[in-house]
Amino acid sequence: MKFGYFDDKKREYVISTPQTPYPWINYLGNGAFFSIISNTSGGYSFYRDARLRRITRYRYNNIPLDSNGKYFYIRDEQTLWSPSWKPAKTELDKYECRHGLGYSTFLGEKNLCRAQVTCFVPDEANAEIQLLTLENLSQKTKKLKIHSFVEWCLWNALEDNTNFQRNFSTGQVEIEGSTLYHKTEFRERRNHYAFYHVNTPIKGYDTDREKFLGLYNGIEAPDAVMNGTAYNTEAHGWSPIASHFIEVDLKPGEKKQLVFVLGYVELPDKDKFFGNQIINKTPAKEIISRYDTADKALASLQLVVNKWEKLLGGYQTSTPDEKFNRMVNIWNQYQCVVTYYFSRSASYFESGIGRGMGFRDSNQDLLGFMHIMPQLAKQRIIDIASTQFEDGGAYHQYQPLTKRGNSDVGGNFNDDPLWLIAAVSAYIRETGDTDILAESVPFDNNENNKASLFEHLKRSFDHVINNLGPHKLPLIGRADWNDCLNLNCFSNNPDESFQITENKSGGAAESVFIAGMFIKYGREYAEVCNLMKNPGEAKRAVRYVEEMVASVDQHGWDGEWFLRAYDYFGEKVGSHTCEESKIFIEPQGFCIMAGIGLDDGRATKTLESVNKYLACDHGIVLNYPAFTKYYIQYGEISSYPQGYKENAGVFSHNNPWVIIAETLVGNGDRAYDYFSRISPAHTEDKSELRKMEPYVFAQMIAGKEAYKPGEAKNSWLTGAAAWTFVAASQYILGVRPGFYGLEVDPCIPKQWKEISVTRKYRNAVYEIKIMNGSGKGKGVKEMIVDGAKVTGNVLPVFSDGKTHKVEVAI
Ligand code: BGC
Ligand code: NOJ
Repeated sequence: MKFGYFDDKKREYVISTPQTPYPWINYLGNGAFFSIISNTSGGYSFYRDARLRRITRYRYNNIPLDSNGKYFYIRDEQTLWSPSWKPAKTELDKYECRHGLGYSTFLGEKNLCRAQVTCFVPDEANAEIQLLTLENLSQKTKKLKIHSFVEWCLWNALEDNTNFQRNFSTGQVEIEGSTLYHKTEFRERRNHYAFYHVNTPIKGYDTDREKFLGLYNGIEAPDAVMNGTAYNTEAHGWSPIASHFIEVDLKPGEKKQLVFVLGYVELPDKDKFFGNQIINKTPAKEIISRYDTADKALASLQLVVNKWEKLLGGYQTSTPDEKFNRMVNIWNQYQCVVTYYFSRSASYFESGIGRGMGFRDSNQDLLGFMHIMPQLAKQRIIDIASTQFEDGGAYHQYQPLTKRGNSDVGGNFNDDPLWLIAAVSAYIRETGDTDILAESVPFDNNENNKASLFEHLKRSFDHVINNLGPHKLPLIGRADWNDCLNLNCFSNNPDESFQITENKSGGAAESVFIAGMFIKYGREYAEVCNLMKNPGEAKRAVRYVEEMVASVDQHGWDGEWFLRAYDYFGEKVGSHTCEESKIFIEPQGFCIMAGIGLDDGRATKTLESVNKYLACDHGIVLNYPAFTKYYIQYGEISSYPQGYKENAGVFSHNNPWVIIAETLVGNGDRAYDYFSRISPAHTEDKSELRKMEPYVFAQMIAGKEAYKPGEAKNSWLTGAAAWTFVAASQYILGVRPGFYGLEVDPCIPKQWKEISVTRKYRNAVYEIKIMNGSGKGKGVKEMIVDGAKVTGNVLPVFSDGKTHKVEVAI
C-alpha cells in the first residue's frame, strides 16, 4: 500500500493523505538554521545545535503522535481547518504535502477555499519562511480569520523539558507591530533572540499559551481561534508562544499571499539592547525586509531549488531501474547531506538532546558526502580530528555548537580512530588535496597541543597496534562499530549504561571486525604515506597490516564465515560453536572489503553463509540466531528482544558492506538484490508495514525473528545513507574516486544492457557510458576516453573544467 508517489521531475515525494503510518518528515536548513517538518506540519526549529539552541518546542513521544509544530488555523464561517490537516484535523476536500529538497509544501482545500503553505529556510538568512497563499474558489466573498501558531522553546531543550521550577518564571517577549519577539534569558547571558513576523498588519496577537488555548484545551481547538479573536496577551513566564491573528477577505476567484518569517538573531554583547532592556531589533528588521513580498520569498526559494540541482549534479545515473535511479540521483544523496549536518542528533527518533555528533558516525557520513561539498567535508574532518586524544583514541561524541568532546561518554570505542583514516582517505581520493594532511590540528581541542593531520592519522593507526589482545587482534574496548556488543561491561544493574560501564578490569576482548577495518584502512593509510613521499612509514604500515591479515587467517576464520570477536574470557563470539548468534554480519562485510579471502574462496563461501543464514526478505539481519535471553558477557546486544536493533534486526548500515563484498566477488545480481531489499523506493508499496518514509533509509528494519518482521524504525539519521550511496555509486555502478584518478569498475545486474553515469570529479565532468555487451555485468574490457583508447580502468585527472566522454565495454 502506498500513501503517495515520487515526482522525480520535481525531485519531490508527494504525500496524498495526512494519515501516513508514521509522521513522514523533511529537513529544511542552511547549515545554521534548521527545521524538521512533518507531513502535517509538526516539528521544530533550532540554530546549529538542537540541544543548546532550540527555537521552537516539540514534545517527543507524546500523545497524540507528532505533538507540536508550526501551524495555521483558518476559520471560514463555522468551519475551522488547517492546510496541513493538523492541528484542526478537519477532514479536507483535498490534501497534499510535497517534501522537496530543502522545502515542503502543504496544500489544503476546504469548502472551495484553497490554502497552500510553502516552507523553506533560505540560504542567506537564519529564518524559516512560510509563504501562505489563500485562494477563493467559490462564487461568494469569503471572510477568513487566520491564526498562526508557534510555541517557543526556552533555548536549552534539556532544561526546557526538565527544569520547570525555573522555566515557568523566565519567559519574556516583546511585541512590535506584526512582529512577536521571544527574548527569554536575553536579560542575562544570552545574546540571541527569535521572532515571528507576518508581512501584513494584524488584527491581534497572543504570546501567552494558556490564554490563547484556554487552560484545559488542546491544540486542535484553541480558545482564541474558536472565539474568532485574539487576546493581545503579553507572556510573563509560563509558556510563551507567538500567534498572529489576521482577517483576510477574498472576492470570488481572488488570491492573496502572506509571508511569515520565523527568525533567529545573534548580537554582539555591546549591541544587545536598544534602550532600557529593549532588544535591538535592527537585525530582525533587516531579515524581515528581505522577504516582505511573496515575490521576494519565491525568488529566495528558487535559489534553494537551484542550489540542490547543482549539489546533486555531481553524480547522476541512468539505469534501466527507475527506482534505483531516483535513490542514487535524488534521495540517497539528499539523505547523505542531512546526515552530514545532523549526524545522530536531531530526528523524530533522536531527541536533539542526546548524542550530538558521533566520531565514527560523522566520519562515515562524510563517505557519502565528499563529492557534494568537499570544502565542508574538509572542515568537518578538522573539527572531528580536533577532538582526538594524543594517544590516537577519541571521544565517542562531540557537541555541534561547542565542537568539544563529550566527557560524559568519553572514549575507548576502539574502532573510532580508524574511521578518521577512512574519511581523510576518501577526501583525498575525491579532491586530490593532500595539503589537508599538513593542517595543524589540536588534540582534545587544546590549542597548545597540536600536530599535523597526518600525525593524527598515524596516531589512529598506532592506536590499534598499541591495543592488541591475546590473539594479536585489536582490543574492542567498550565496543566497536556495534555499540551494543559490550564485551567488557558485565552489567547486572539496570541503572548503568551499557556503553560506559566496565565492571571487570582487564578488558581483553578482541574484535575481528576492527581487524578487518585495520587491514582496509591501514592499506589506505599506507597509500597516503606514499602520496606524502614517506615510503618508510608506508612500509611500516604495510608490515603491520600483513601481520593483522595473518592474525585473522589464524584466529578470525570459523570455517564457513569470519568470527565476530573473542569475549573477555577468550571465548569465540559468532562461531558455529556458539549456542546463539553463531554468525554476525559485520566481519563478513568488512573482512571481504579488506580483501581477505578473495583469492582462496573464503570470500564466496562467506557470502553464501550470509545468504543462507542472515539474508531475509527485508534485508540482511545483523546476527543469527538472535539472542533469546540476556548474556551478561555480551551486554546491550542481548538486551533487545529478538529481531530488533542490534539483536538480529536488519541494521541497514552494514548491509552495504555485504553489497560491496558481493561486487568484489563479481555478483552484481545479488548486490543489486540486497540493495533493493532495504531501499525505501523499492519497498514503497510495503509502506504500511514499514511505516517509515519511502524516500529515506531507516536505521533498522525488524528482522526475520522479530514479532513484526519488516517494520522499520529510526529513519533519516543513519550511516546507511552514506554507505548505501558508496555501495551503489562506487561499487554497483563502479565509478569510484581513487588516489590517482576516477576508477571505473562496475558490477551491475547481468540484465542491465547499458547504463550511464555523469560524474564531476576534480574540476572536470565525465560522461560515462557503460555497455554490458558480455552480459556478465563485471570486468572492464575496453575504455575509450574522448575517442581514444586508454589502458586500464582509471580515468585520467583532467582538471580542465571540461566535459569528457567515456565509453566502457564490459
Ligand atoms: C543503540 C545503538 C546506538 C547506541 C548509542 C543503543 O541503544 O541500539 O544503535 O548506537 O545506543 O548509544
Ligand atoms: C548507531 C550508532 O550511531 C552507530 O555509531 C553504531 O555503529 C550503530 N548504531 C551500531 O551500534
